[in-house]
Amino acid sequence: MKTILITGGAGFIGSHVVRLFVKKYSDYKIVNLDKLTYAGNLANLEDVEKEKNYEFVKGDIVDGEFINTLFTKYKFDGVIHLAAESHVDRSIVNPMDFIMTNIVGTVNLLNAAKNIWMENMDGKPCLPDRQAAGRKFYHISTDEVYGSLGKEGFFTEKTSYDPRSPYSASKASSDHIVRAYFHTYNLPVIISNCSNNYGANQFPEKLIPLCINNIKNNKPLPVYGKGENVRDWLWVEDHVNAIDLIYHSGKTGETYNIGGNNEWKNIDLVKQLCRIMDIKLGRAKGESEKLITFVKDRAGHDLRYAIDSGKLQKELGWSPSLQFEEGLEKTVDWYLKNEKWLNNITSGEYQKYYDNQYVKR
Ligand code: NAD
Ligand code: DAU
Repeated sequence: MKTILITGGAGFIGSHVVRLFVKKYSDYKIVNLDKLTYAGNLANLEDVEKEKNYEFVKGDIVDGEFINTLFTKYKFDGVIHLAAESHVDRSIVNPMDFIMTNIVGTVNLLNAAKNIWMENMDGKPCLPDRQAAGRKFYHISTDEVYGSLGKEGFFTEKTSYDPRSPYSASKASSDHIVRAYFHTYNLPVIISNCSNNYGANQFPEKLIPLCINNIKNNKPLPVYGKGENVRDWLWVEDHVNAIDLIYHSGKTGETYNIGGNNEWKNIDLVKQLCRIMDIKLGRAKGESEKLITFVKDRAGHDLRYAIDSGKLQKELGWSPSLQFEEGLEKTVDWYLKNEKWLNNITSGEYQKYYDNQYVKR
């Protein structure tokens, strides 16, 4: 049985990755390592927590000693690294958390993997045949490392990095370090850079769940600037299918871009959400749109992201499965049905659970 470490598995995308791996691969033991920051929520994983091939470990990737001990104990065969501080607005207010988790935390994981997977512990280049043992360090990253596009063009895997927020700079930095461990130590790494995800279990600070929650509660919908910024939205389960494919069939040392080919101006997206919510809540047409409020723009707000995922499509046969209109409606339905999940977050109740379950241990 292979033991796979998934970091950040209590978060939005991580919980979908954990679920797919636990359910699809009964011959893998999945260890979910998560610090349970404000963004971590074990309620995301209630349906898998009792599975025999699943284990949760509470811990901080910034704690290098703890990470080394964990790797020595479990002797992981593979790592899928999602743990991160992920919200751009928070990185503008408090960059240091992003530097610590996204950069230092990633280096701790790389060192620990190198230590247990490689013969040479003294920094000399590792023996190539050690790679053949099927080990893999997969770093989940973002399209934001490429910077901001004008009205035309797409990010490809060859686009130069040009990160512009503390969040994207921390992710770009960790991508560079991951690649450095491949070139310097032969550590078998893979990176993917994905566009904006949406779907069930996304923390309601991000645009789509924030708007769903605010529309429901008749609160203002804060649209930054004029709402002209463009994002490429991808159904989270399509991202997770890509992760599965890349983890198992991707080429060591390579980077893969993942995107939905689905660009929306923020204002058009918010209006679309309003239309769906009017129908779902039985409101008069146009009622929810009245909540739209233009607010001060995000500092350094990137204008447009658009991903060319041609390499992933051609080489590994991936393509997104869900049309955005359908995915958005499914997402709205999920949030309306899972009122308790949402209310536990907005009230802070979900974190009290951790105090009892884990912190006091
Ligand atoms: P999230 O904020 O929902 O979840 C992050 C998880 O990491 C949480 O469970 C949190 O508790 C955990 N975590 C944070 N700091 C930690 C630490 N020091 N030690 C251990 N665990 C820690 O994030 P997400 O949106 O699910 O994103 C997951 C990954 O995917 C991130 O690396 C992000 O950069 C990347 N990504 C996200 C998107 C997106 O649209 N959300 C798109 C592309 C790439
Ligand atoms: O592109 C991938 C990235 O997508 C991921 O790497 C990040 O982890 C993820 O958070 C996301 O970043 P964004 O900044 O694009 O997502 P967010 O939902 O915060 O914002 C989407 C767009 O909506 C962005 O242009 C800012 C705008 N916005 C956001 C919020 C929260 C608003 O206009 N109002 C808001 O209240």
